[in-house]
Amino acid sequence: MKLGRMNHIGVVTPNLEDAIEFYRDVMGATNITEPMEMPEQGVKLCFVDTPIMNAPPGSDGGTQIELIEPLGDDSPIHGFLKNNPLGGQHHICFEVPDIHEAKKWFESKGRRVLGEPRMGAHGTLIFFVHPKDMGGMLTEIMETPKEGH
Ligand code: CO
Repeated sequence: MKLGRMNHIGVVTPNLEDAIEFYRDVMGATNITEPMEMPEQGVKLCFVDTPIMNAPPGSDGGTQIELIEPLGDDSPIHGFLKNNPLGGQHHICFEVPDIHEAKKWFESKGRRVLGEPRMGAHGTLIFFVHPKDMGGMLTEIMETPKEGH
């Protein structure tokens, strides 16, 4: 497997609106997506662009921050906030060209893939790899969006 671009860093927050305000007013972010709910994952989220300065128009080399707030009483994010009341870094996400090949690859390396590939917030398939097999980092693997997405 060949490692692709770092797509985003997942950051948990107890309050999405406050976090959006922080990235806009303190960090100077100008491009933040509308919050969306993913009830099956128990999360409400949005993305903050961190664009490459002076990039040519239309190019998209920058990475993003994924802001995540728990949604519903059963959200897996509540446990994270219990340990980290202010929120903080939750996962890191890398792109790969082929999600199914990547799953086989990690499994062949003895890494625990958490569930089957499923649709992620960017509209391509994703899976997570257990943090204890990844140097302590919950790692999201995401298929690179095809041209035109
Ligand atoms: Co993510």
